[in-house]
Amino acid sequence: MAALRSTKGLVALVTGGASGLGKGTAEVLAKAGARVAILDLPQSKGAEVAKEIGAIFTPASVTNEDEIKAAFAKVQSEYGRLDALVNCAGIAYAFKLYSVQKKKHVDFEKIRQTMDVNVLGTFNVIRHGVALMGEHEKDANGQRGVVINTASVAAFDGQTGQSAYSASKGAIVGSWT
Ligand SMILES: NC(=O)c1ccc[n+]([C@@H]2O[C@H](COP(=O)([O-])OP(=O)(O)OC[C@H]3O[C@@H](n4cnc5c(N)ncnc54)[C@H](O)[C@@H]3O)[C@@H](O)[C@H]2O)c1
Repeated sequence: MAALRSTKGLVALVTGGASGLGKGTAEVLAKAGARVAILDLPQSKGAEVAKEIGAIFTPASVTNEDEIKAAFAKVQSEYGRLDALVNCAGIAYAFKLYSVQKKKHVDFEKIRQTMDVNVLGTFNVIRHGVALMGEHEKDANGQRGVVINTASVAAFDGQTGQSAYSASKGAIVGSWT
């Protein structure tokens, strides 16, 4: 918890914040005194979770340019700045690209969606998030904010049925350099 003391008063946006890892991250940040925005799909439990932890809910799909713009505009109008962006939104479909037994290809849309949400969605959110961070002065360490992305061990060691998911997480690992 020592490191989290420095989050008091900071503004953090967590994508995928309505469930799982994102929800846990949003809760910890709120408890540590951060002002939190939960970004998740409109049909998610984002509003409920936000109410519980005293955050705001910014409903949006990470893949939708206009919705992401509107989400950051809400963060700007409610909190006036952004210090931390945590990307947890992600999807994981298990499928083989082709079943020899069934003589059937997987629906191409499932591959597209995996890349769309996990890779393009992450980049879409980052490019708007850093624009907001760029509006404030650098801190004593020369930083304007922090972006944290979520990959997976599957990026290095995927299981059968995870080829598209593993590739999408490999893209996230590659983007950290
Ligand atoms: N659960 C695991 O074992 C595990 C392991 C390694 C990595 N991860 C990664 O951690 C992250 C969180 O996983 P989780 O297990 O908490 O998943 P989860 O399904 O509990 O939560 C993911 C959240 O992302 C949201 N989401 C999905 N598509 C979205 C979109 N287009 N726009 C906005 N929000 C969207 C969902 O509504 C959901 O609330 C994912 O990136 C996942 O790939 C999970």
